[in-house]
Amino acid sequence: MNNKTDVSSERTDRSAEAGSPQSPGPGWSWREVCEAQTLLEGGDGVRFEVPGLAGPRQAFVVRFDQSPRAFLNQCMHIPVELDWQPGRFFDLDGLYLVCATHGATYDPVDGLCVAGPCHGRSLISLPVAEFEERVWVAVRDESKEQA
Ligand code: FES
Repeated sequence: MNNKTDVSSERTDRSAEAGSPQSPGPGWSWREVCEAQTLLEGGDGVRFEVPGLAGPRQAFVVRFDQSPRAFLNQCMHIPVELDWQPGRFFDLDGLYLVCATHGATYDPVDGLCVAGPCHGRSLISLPVAEFEERVWVAVRDESKEQA
């Protein structure tokens, strides 16, 4: 289907400390998002929040090419959320993420917009891991960095 590699997903293959995946790096921490079985290939996503400079930001995770893929839930055309209904990000074939507002079409592997008004720009991806049957996203609390 798609041979691109998601570097962030490869973290799941390494050994990990008990209870969560291997450390994502200084200043980052893992946040559990959902059970792995919740995410079906090309199916509905799970929405969650991550900390941001101006307050919490919306994000989501979906499964594609057998791996979880996480992005900020913000279109690159206009900063609105993508989903058609809460958690519905994919097109009818489950192959592309589509913005409900004007139809920008994104590759679910790397978030690159392949068609639409923001062609060539990419969704902001988040490091994601699957560990012990759960999906984790690495978050960095940017609000604390400004203090
Ligand atoms: S706001 Fe997403 S395509 Fe226009």
